[in-house]
Amino acid sequence: MEVGETECGLPSIKKKKSSAVTPMTAAVLFGVDANAEETSTTETPKKIQDRTLGGLLPELSEFEPGVSCESRSHQPHRKNYFQPSKELIQRLRRYEARHRKCAGRARSFFRARESQGEKDDGCRYVVWTAIYGLGNRMITLTSAFLYALLTDRVLLVERTKETTNLFCEPIPNASWLLPPEFTYEWLQSLNESSPQRFAHNNFTDYSDTSTGTADFSYIHLIWNNDDEDKTFFCDESQDQLENVPWLFMRADEYLLPSYFFLSRFKADLDALFPDKEAVFNLLGNYLFQPSDVMWTRITRYYRSYLANHDRLVGIQVRTYQPKSPLPNVLEQLQQCILKNDLLPKVIADDGRSVVKPQTSGLQEPNNGSTVVLMTSLESYYYDSLTEYYLSGPTESGESVTIHQPSHDGTQQTGILVHDIKAWAEIYLLSLSDSLITSGWSTFGYAAHALAGIRPWILFGVVDDQVPDPPCVRAKSVDPCYFHIPVGNIKCPSKDVPDDKHIFPYLQSCEDNNNGVKLVNESSTLEERTKFWHQH
Ligand SMILES: *[C@@H]1O[C@H](CO)[C@@H](O)[C@H](O)[C@H]1NC(C)=O
Ligand SMILES: *[C@@H]1O[C@H](CO)[C@@H](O)[C@H](O)[C@H]1NC(C)=O
Ligand SMILES: *[C@@H]1O[C@H](CO)[C@@H](O)[C@H](O)[C@H]1NC(C)=O
Ligand SMILES: *[C@@H]1O[C@H](CO)[C@@H](O)[C@H](O)[C@H]1NC(C)=O
Repeated sequence: MEVGETECGLPSIKKKKSSAVTPMTAAVLFGVDANAEETSTTETPKKIQDRTLGGLLPELSEFEPGVSCESRSHQPHRKNYFQPSKELIQRLRRYEARHRKCAGRARSFFRARESQGEKDDGCRYVVWTAIYGLGNRMITLTSAFLYALLTDRVLLVERTKETTNLFCEPIPNASWLLPPEFTYEWLQSLNESSPQRFAHNNFTDYSDTSTGTADFSYIHLIWNNDDEDKTFFCDESQDQLENVPWLFMRADEYLLPSYFFLSRFKADLDALFPDKEAVFNLLGNYLFQPSDVMWTRITRYYRSYLANHDRLVGIQVRTYQPKSPLPNVLEQLQQCILKNDLLPKVIADDGRSVVKPQTSGLQEPNNGSTVVLMTSLESYYYDSLTEYYLSGPTESGESVTIHQPSHDGTQQTGILVHDIKAWAEIYLLSLSDSLITSGWSTFGYAAHALAGIRPWILFGVVDDQVPDPPCVRAKSVDPCYFHIPVGNIKCPSKDVPDDKHIFPYLQSCEDNNNGVKLVNESSTLEERTKFWHQH
């Protein structure tokens, strides 16, 4: 069940009749101000948007007063938040307490040999290290966090531009940043040739004797991993790793669906996530609150371009060919939109009948307004779609306005300015009422999973052919996990069978048959789909 349904008592965005469009104030859209409860006494008491998202986030009072994170007190009224389970809420609070206890002790990693003999403080860590673009970083960070929740470890994150500039600190009164002693160079030395690479060396000495570090293991789960690396997803390996206080993880994929194959995690995962497709939605909304710099940018853009709408439709177009056949992708996008009624059709002007102007003035009301937020590295789709909606009136009399915040040409991983734009766009897309996203894109995955929306997924254009169908409705809001086909995990006791349907909640991805994604089991799926179709 989603927060936002009446049962949970949380309002969703109030649709305004277009005849009386008044600008939506930031307070309406981005949650109610701290003071609003007291000041709006003349109005009928409205149910206040729950800033904790149903208990998912810590209460604001838990955070030290000086720590600024504006976005935390202005949770947007998204329609499709999932309700966190009681178990997840408890686990998160327990996690926060552990994090507060252990994060400050992380510095002792490099002096572990000196402090030997001190009694074990019970603190164990998993360290997330960064690789590739923002979308990849968000899905791998979420995967590492779930691992920490399942194994009673503390998640620390590499100091990168994202973790230090784009997101707020998620844990009250503690930092999730790895102490500066862990230098970039030291972290880079963790690679496939590290002696501590998991499953490639003897399970006897994990420490780096030359520097006297604590025992650690390096988990190598990027594209060039081998069969041994993959045994990370075996119960036996998890038994061994339990005794290793520090794990450094480098992954480039949304690998958390693989945790479901571990019998030791299975019952726990079932209890934490009754809605299987909600894993990223819940954990992502827990971890990724925009920093103040981001929040200023996001709210400014929203107020300037997106606020006055009856419907907000997000479109993300990402192509991978070096020279993308733009007209084909445009053709595909238009077919996807029109075949599935995602945006109004324009009445074609055959040139003979003079289309009667709908309005004579500049300010006349229309029959509802749809605002489209377009994100792409190109401006071509924006230009073409804008031209389409200027070419004639829509059948429904609705107005359609297109906005595109940036068009950077190429992806520029690791450049702060680019990442600021990318995070703003992911966040703004996640406020949409419906979404069209490109397959194979972690940027799109992050947007629809944060939104809690099952997007329409555009298939890749192959051999200059517009795919048929051009797009499909995703069966789940969760990201796709590809690159490590599930059946390739060879565990000492048993192989994980090469069958994507071992669990009803793991199914092939729409955009990649080899990949799997978490979906809700069929009954809930039907209901939820119905719920969404009403919007
Ligand atoms: C964090 O610190 C503030 C003030 O220093 C305090 O009021 C709050 O209770 C603390 N929160 C937790 C969870 O310890
Ligand atoms: C791994 O790190 C070591 C130590 O920094 C370095 O010498 C080596 O070139 C790296 N290997 C790869 C494949 O990156
Ligand atoms: C593992 O330990 C055995 C016996 O101590 C040794 O012969 C072997 O070389 C070690 N293997 C590696 C990869 O270190
Ligand atoms: C406005 O929308 C309503 C309902 O969809 C429709 O019946 C009506 O014809 C539309 N008006 C115009 C001017 O298109």
